[in-house]
Amino acid sequence: MRKKIIAGNWKMNKTVEEAVELANAIKLDLAECKEVDVVLCPPFTAIKAVSDVVSETLINVGSQNMSSEDEGAYTGEISHTMLKELFVRYVILGHSERREYYKETDFWINKKVKKALEKNLRPIVCVGEKLEDREGGNTEAVVEVQVREGLKDIPAAAYTELVIAYEPVWAIGTGKTATSAQAQEVHAFIRGIVKDMVGAEAADAVRIQYGGSMKPDNAPELLSQPDIDGGLIGGAALDAASFFGIVKAGM
Ligand code: PGA
Repeated sequence: MRKKIIAGNWKMNKTVEEAVELANAIKLDLAECKEVDVVLCPPFTAIKAVSDVVSETLINVGSQNMSSEDEGAYTGEISHTMLKELFVRYVILGHSERREYYKETDFWINKKVKKALEKNLRPIVCVGEKLEDREGGNTEAVVEVQVREGLKDIPAAAYTELVIAYEPVWAIGTGKTATSAQAQEVHAFIRGIVKDMVGAEAADAVRIQYGGSMKPDNAPELLSQPDIDGGLIGGAALDAASFFGIVKAGM
């Protein structure tokens, strides 16, 4: 049985003060949550403060990106050492906004995934098709390349640690959610690719989150699908009650 994982991707929202307020509100409901892995991914500037708020709880902290390099002349980048110093456990890698606006490619995402695993951080590797891909009937082809290239040369044993997030780009922040059947279909497809790449045991173990306008009202149906193992939540993660509503649906 795969344990569900619900992660809040706060994106470029929340000052330190606001982040502390939100983390405290989430902590009221979820400090002792054992049924679901709960992860908060604030912007880099608020990670320390959020880590301090949740330090004595079961809530995990994640980052929204990480450098593929250890240290050195990489202006604007943040390393694994810096994140681990702040008790970060998960790193979101290859989010569609990073692919789209900052031209991150599968090659670099793969380098980051390898670095994160080598340093005992858990990557949340995002994949997903754009609207034109779906309308052109290319969803599977696009997602397959992202999975095969992004997870290239990752050993089977690592699939208990890493998480895949399927996020159809047309559903992110748009209020348009994939239907549970559409999402389930792609999740099962992704699990099949993992099986082909590294075997049935890893495919059975890997957790695949859905992301894209997940809200408390659609979460129960999405999370009841056999291959949907959690959610990567943007907008609804910025409100403690909504985020709690989604986590509750995963319990
Ligand atoms: P959304 O974002 O929930 O606001 O659609 C999801 C994400 O981008 O991770």
